Amino acid sequence: MIVEQEAKKAIENFSMPDNIGFGKVLLPIMAISEFKDGKWSELVISPYKKLELDPTTKVLHYGQEIFEGMKAYNYKGQGPVLFRPIENFKRFNFSASRMAMPEVPEEIFMGAVHKITSLGEKFVPRRDGESLYIRPFMIATEKNLGIKPSEEFMFIVIASPVGSYFSGGTIKVFIEEEMIRACKGGTGNAKTGGNYAGGLNAAIKTKEKGFDQTMWLSAEDKDSIEELSGMNFFCVIDDKLYTPELTDTILNGITRKSIIELARHENIEVVEKRLSIKELKGLIKEARCTEAFACGTAAIITPIDSFHDERGESFHLKSAHGPVARKLRNKLLGIQQLTETDSFGWIEKIKETI
Ligand SMILES: Cc1ncc(COP(=O)(O)O)c(C=O)c1O
Repeated sequence: MIVEQEAKKAIENFSMPDNIGFGKVLLPIMAISEFKDGKWSELVISPYKKLELDPTTKVLHYGQEIFEGMKAYNYKGQGPVLFRPIENFKRFNFSASRMAMPEVPEEIFMGAVHKITSLGEKFVPRRDGESLYIRPFMIATEKNLGIKPSEEFMFIVIASPVGSYFSGGTIKVFIEEEMIRACKGGTGNAKTGGNYAGGLNAAIKTKEKGFDQTMWLSAEDKDSIEELSGMNFFCVIDDKLYTPELTDTILNGITRKSIIELARHENIEVVEKRLSIKELKGLIKEARCTEAFACGTAAIITPIDSFHDERGESFHLKSAHGPVARKLRNKLLGIQQLTETDSFGWIEKIKETI
């Protein structure tokens, strides 16, 4: 790994604004490795800079790109630590393989994540709910308009000190019944830009109607709940925790997986199965479904206040800040912020020597 002198200077001269928001303030450094002739180049840590791309660069036309989202925590200055980074690494290479891109070796992926975080250690926020959001991504960089997989790629890691994603506490969910996010055999379980671009129209519609998040249903039956635009979905029915079972149309969320493991550890029964929105509406009305929440790296666990459909009907949960969501959120954040014992081995200390 090469750490440019200029990158060290950029960090030394950096000062962080008090109000950081989400994804607006970037550390002044980045990590880059390029793939050419079948090989990855040595990782370089440079100052944060603009990319110069030829107008024919394939990613600009055919969207061959993938990304990850992960966080480093430094609550009360006890870190920085990463949360299950190996899971992000595995999912990144799963997405790479789905999008006809080369896998990134573990030492390059982890080396970049650890080095960016250790160099930026002073700027990993220390207040409750804050963290350093780390964004590894890969783009196809071959210059050529032919619709063929690129043979050249760039792997980059940037990082952003962030506050909480949702400030309001609970969210109102709009059930999207016209557009779809993913279909069987498609790319729904890969973290690739096109999935998000295809959901933006629905996000506009959701906001225009006055709601916060779009809920996606299965393309096949327009009834099975899949997930929200950047989060997985859970609900509590008759005191059991339910989440849609994974298919190739749902992103395999690391927070989802952690919540399932945490809940089982807490003796909460977890059921992974197909969930019908039609049935869920009825269960909310009967007050058998008492809580619902969204989860993800950015959102952590965000309670759902209500669901709203195309016909203007609303379905309000009995307790938006229900006991199950609260308990799991406290446990999860406690592990991430080092105030709870990590009996799962999810926390990884930043290696300064990498
Ligand atoms: C579509 C989608 N679903 C779910 C998630 C939650 O995944 P994770 O918990 O790994 O952040 C994300 C965020 O990465 C996402 O983009």
